Amino acid sequence: MERFNDKVVIVTGAASGIGEAVARRFSEEGANVVLVDRNDPTPVAKSLPEARTMVCKLDVSTPRAMQEVVEQTVSRFNGLDVLVNNAGIFAAGDPADITDEDWHKVIATDLDSVFYGCRAALPELRRRRGCIVNTASVSGLGADWGMSPYNAAKGGVVNLTRALALDLGKDGVRVNAVCPGLTRTGMTRDMMTDEAVLTKFRERVPLGRVCEPSEVAAVVAFLASDDASFISGANVPVDGGLTASNGQPPQN
Ligand code: NAI
Repeated sequence: MERFNDKVVIVTGAASGIGEAVARRFSEEGANVVLVDRNDPTPVAKSLPEARTMVCKLDVSTPRAMQEVVEQTVSRFNGLDVLVNNAGIFAAGDPADITDEDWHKVIATDLDSVFYGCRAALPELRRRRGCIVNTASVSGLGADWGMSPYNAAKGGVVNLTRALALDLGKDGVRVNAVCPGLTRTGMTRDMMTDEAVLTKFRERVPLGRVCEPSEVAAVVAFLASDDASFISGANVPVDGGLTASNGQPPQN
């Protein structure tokens, strides 16, 4: 099934992890794909069809960067149908130990960039009645211990997704987000080799395992497709049932 033939898709954070899986999925389904990352996404792009693939190496947290990406995309592929704001970083620690630099870096990368990307893409998305899919997190639906900047940023993405869905609905532009639970990527590499951490997650996640990037990519593709034509403003958990819990411990 090639749901995205002739469609043009921008994916940020496409050099690794979830973004790489998302870019591969759209490409497999026929799309022209623009891979954006501050690390060179060329190694990923090399395994995709050359005529339908473009790379942009830049930092998405600055206001002008996504403007540039959209301009280059339109100049190469004549338009834009889907924007996936996925690039993100993580900072952890006791709130008293979070530096100004850490705070601003996480907010700039995980939240500011999403707004800048949406704003830059808007004229093109309005023209083609396109859509936006943001990578939020279960950490935007509730809070974690020791992750205050990340929780603030991802909570911002969750509500920004809703706000934009309201404002853009009249133009036929849909805005949704995926909220993954712990996923096997570069960001979580250390956790994936820590058996004690993995055991705790297996106990808390009803499906008893961590998520694979391709499982998030499948939901992103669904939300961007016509199969989701009446879904907007949704923050969809991809978490193996984690957020179904009210937080009380199991009794057996
Ligand atoms: P990752 O570290 O494998 O990929 C993130 C990519 O974003 C990297 O290639 C990195 O170079 C790029 N990036 C970071 N800052 C950037 C910037 N300023 N400009 C351009 N590119 C930048 O991590 P992962 O897990 O694939 O993360 C993707 C998204 O998924 C992030 O928004 C993350 O917060 C979110 N997420 C990840 C979860 C996990 O457990 N791995 C769970 C829930 C959400």
